[in-house]
Amino acid sequence: MNESRICIALDFKTKSDVENFLKQFEGESLYVKVGMELFYGEGIEIIKMIKEMGHKIFLDLKLHDIPNTVKSAMRQLAKLDVDMVNVHASGGIEMMKAAIEGLEEGKTSGKRPLCIAVTCLTSLDQQLLIHEPLENVVLKWAENAKAAGLDGVVCSPLESKIIHDHLGKEFLTVTPGIRLASDNVNDQKRVTTPAMAKELTSSYIVVGRTITGSQDPLATYKKVYQDFQGE
Ligand code: C5P
Repeated sequence: MNESRICIALDFKTKSDVENFLKQFEGESLYVKVGMELFYGEGIEIIKMIKEMGHKIFLDLKLHDIPNTVKSAMRQLAKLDVDMVNVHASGGIEMMKAAIEGLEEGKTSGKRPLCIAVTCLTSLDQQLLIHEPLENVVLKWAENAKAAGLDGVVCSPLESKIIHDHLGKEFLTVTPGIRLASDNVNDQKRVTTPAMAKELTSSYIVVGRTITGSQDPLATYKKVYQDFQGE
C-alpha cells in the first residue's frame, strides 16, 4: 500500500477509546487526525501513544490569534513532532507567516510539520456568506495561505480542483466532508464520496464517522482507501 492519504478523524473522548479503536488496525500504517476534544482531554500523552504505534498525526487545533501568540503556540506544537498542523486562513497573512516561523523554530528534526489553513468549514454553506460566492472566498483564502508560505488548505473537495488549477497541484488540499453513498450525512452540508474526492483532485481526505462509526472499521477503511487511492 502507498502511504495513506486518508486522515482518520479520531473524534473520541479518551485515550482508551482511541487505543481500542486503533487495535483493529494492527499492521496498518495510518494517518490519523487528533482534534480539540481529544487533545484538550488527554494532552500530549495521546500524541506520544499514537506516535509509538507508528502512525502519522494531523493535529487539528485550528489556531487563530494574533501573530505573536500563534508563533509561540506553533513553536510548542512543533516540539511534539506531529506531521501536520493548521490555522484559520481568516487570521490573515501575517498570522500564517508567524505560524511557519514558530514551526521552524520548534522543529525537532530537519523537517517542520506541514501547515495548512482552514478556508471555509464544510459545515457552512452559501447562506452564511452573504456578500461573496463561497468559491471566491475559499480561493482568496487559499491564495493568502500560499502567499504566507503554507503547504495547503483544508477545504471541501468541491473546491479542490479550482485551488489546484490556480495554485498548482503541489499545494495540498485536505478535504473533510467525506461520506460513502450509503452513509448518514450528519452535520456536514457539502459531502462527497472518496471516489468523487479523487476525481476532484483532493490531496488528502479526512474521514471520521464513516470509519469510526462503522460496524467493521478496518473493512470500511480499506474500501475508502481503494476508492480514493486504488489504481
Ligand atoms: O465525522 P466526519 O467525517 O464528518 O468528521 C470530519 C472531521 O473533519 C471532524 O473532525 C471535523 O472537525 C473536521 N473538519 C471538518 N471541516 C473542516 C475542518 C475540519 O469537518 N472544514
